Amino acid sequence: MTGPLVHRPRRLRRTPQLRRLVAATHLHAGNLIQPLFVGEGLAEPIPVPSMPGVVRHTRDTLRKAAVAAAYAGVGGVMIFGVPAPDRKDATGSQAWAEDGIAQQAIADVVAEVGDEVVIIGDVNLDEATQHGHVGVVGADGDVDNDATLELHARVAVAQAQAGAHMVAPSGMMDGQVAAIRRALDESNHAGMPILAYSAKYASAFYGPFREAVESSLGSGDRSTHQQSPAGSVAEALREVRLDLAQGADAVMVKPALPYLDIIRAVRDEADVPVAAYQTSGEYAAIEAAAAHGWIDHGQAVQETLLAIRRAGADIVVTYWATAVANRLRP
Ligand code: PBG
Repeated sequence: MTGPLVHRPRRLRRTPQLRRLVAATHLHAGNLIQPLFVGEGLAEPIPVPSMPGVVRHTRDTLRKAAVAAAYAGVGGVMIFGVPAPDRKDATGSQAWAEDGIAQQAIADVVAEVGDEVVIIGDVNLDEATQHGHVGVVGADGDVDNDATLELHARVAVAQAQAGAHMVAPSGMMDGQVAAIRRALDESNHAGMPILAYSAKYASAFYGPFREAVESSLGSGDRSTHQQSPAGSVAEALREVRLDLAQGADAVMVKPALPYLDIIRAVRDEADVPVAAYQTSGEYAAIEAAAAHGWIDHGQAVQETLLAIRRAGADIVVTYWATAVANRLRP
């Protein structure tokens, strides 16, 4: 190169003030969702060993965690209820029982912080079935799609009746959004928004979650309904289009960090808010490395969340939601 350097990108990086001025990606507490686990009949909260800092709550400590999330300014809490082991059955009936733990917990949290934060139910059966599958298992050992739809619809209606503000179907059954939309509309819940897990991958990054909710599979696997990591971007977009056609109000990509390209593609395609779920395995990986002193915890959390936002997620579900929101407070 001859002559003086004209282009020096470093000029805008010289001070923290300049870097803040040109920042293009931001985290907002109001766009974060805190997942919370609650177990039926627990005397004490039970730590989840693979997720340091995360517990399966009692109904009482769940209320406190919801208050902490609301106080920090978190936008939503997502409730996962785990029935007592002896109440799990083949169809997951506790997931739609009026007195099922998820419904009781949703009602508790609505009473506590219902005016301050969006309370979201996870529409699925895996926490409530003995075998850990998302629905009815057919004679071939695989989940029976159409028989499962009706049960998922019951779960959504039960959560709506418990006072949830939003329902999030996560089972990756074909037609689940339509079935849930119809059931909600017919039960006087036409105003209930659906956050659809549209592009959900069969992922190793759900491992710790299954420990948290005791939903590890007895047999079979989820690859017949969750998407393959080797699948095309077009496949994800097709799932999104189908969910939108069935009435999804917002769509989700899950996991987040290994699927940033999918988040971007979905953001470019969808005309609704896009959420991304930073899953239990993503959480565990960073917690474990940071506990060894191998990476800086705060920086890694912030960097991954910014990456997910930059990829196009409007909303991020993360186990760090409350902690991050507290840090964001002025
Ligand atoms: C289904 C559900 C799962 C997660 C959220 N909802 C588990 C699964 O699909 O196997 C995973 C969340 C995580 O890993 O953090 N109830």
